Amino acid sequence: MSSPVPVPPAAAWCDALQHAAAQYRWLLGQLPDAKRYPRTWEHGKRVLVRPADWTSGFFPGALWLLAGLTRDATWRTSAATYTGGLEGMKANRRTHDIGFMLYCSFGQGYRLTRDPHYRAVLLAGAESLVTRFNPVVGCIKSWDTRAEWPFPVIIDNMMNLELLLWATQESGDPRFREIAIRHADVTLANHFRPDGSSYHVVDYEPATGIARRRQTHQGAADESAWARGQAWGLYGYTFMYRETRRPAYLAQARKIAAFLLGHPRLPEDKVPYWDFDAPQLERAPRDASAAAIICSALFELSLLVADEDRRQYVQFASVQLASLCSPAYRAEVGSNGGFILMHSTGSLPRGSEIDVPLNYADYYFLEALQRAAIAVDRRS
Ligand code: GLY
Repeated sequence: MSSPVPVPPAAAWCDALQHAAAQYRWLLGQLPDAKRYPRTWEHGKRVLVRPADWTSGFFPGALWLLAGLTRDATWRTSAATYTGGLEGMKANRRTHDIGFMLYCSFGQGYRLTRDPHYRAVLLAGAESLVTRFNPVVGCIKSWDTRAEWPFPVIIDNMMNLELLLWATQESGDPRFREIAIRHADVTLANHFRPDGSSYHVVDYEPATGIARRRQTHQGAADESAWARGQAWGLYGYTFMYRETRRPAYLAQARKIAAFLLGHPRLPEDKVPYWDFDAPQLERAPRDASAAAIICSALFELSLLVADEDRRQYVQFASVQLASLCSPAYRAEVGSNGGFILMHSTGSLPRGSEIDVPLNYADYYFLEALQRAAIAVDRRS
């Protein structure tokens, strides 16, 4: 019999859903049309992006999450409108971000509606994504844009594999899952350091599959632990284990979790600085998006392990969720450009999106709320 997991401080987030719904209703009322998607609020302006932006799926995804969490069907109309605007991305072969764009929007929509058209869009998107797979490397190529990296693979790319696992489950075509497993295995072999932290970019030689360089694009240094990169890795290996039950993936998820949970530079509120190795740490901006992704992943991982680990993951994620629900991170309704959370960091080395709201912080925060309810329900 498993030992009981302590009840997390649920009272700290019990009004979070109501608040998030009020904030997104206000945001919807501020948007000029449904052709562009709110990404952030920077320098006093709301940044709206086109469907081809890597973050376009998060806003419709958040609307679907609100529809599910509130059980209020009125959210479905705007969720469907913003989701529909992304359909063209199913044919986009120029980016690895198809999983983010489509699985967070059409995927969340399909989960709630079972609309066969959504299913068809997702399967077409999976077909586009696998065109970027190189069997010699064993990975899906992330970017086509940097001449010095002939075949870059970023840790973030793990997130796109969930669409592929889903595609095999839905279609019965094993190709998608095989590619997801190969990508996860090669990433496991090449992206991680002995302490469980990960590099951001591994660049491969396309003709031989040799890992040429390990570098960063958004972190403080090639050898640093960029906070959101660690979060993507944890989330990625958690669902890879959930869907395949391969012990190596669970071991990796636990290793990443151990790195994060015990990190000496993690602040008490468990919302990481933008990079665990950022210079002048005390003055470094936080990254609430990394906290939200870790929080959602840990609630999920808690369902896949037993006893002590479960207790530890639920406890940690609950502290994170309570922090994100506190006035330190949660904006007043009608402020923060209409986004739920404050204090995320997009790309500090490029001077872009520093200490701002980000649509993906909101998305994973809402998902964490949803998963918290399930994880806490199964706490004993
Ligand atoms: N996938 C891009 C980022 O995490 O900023």
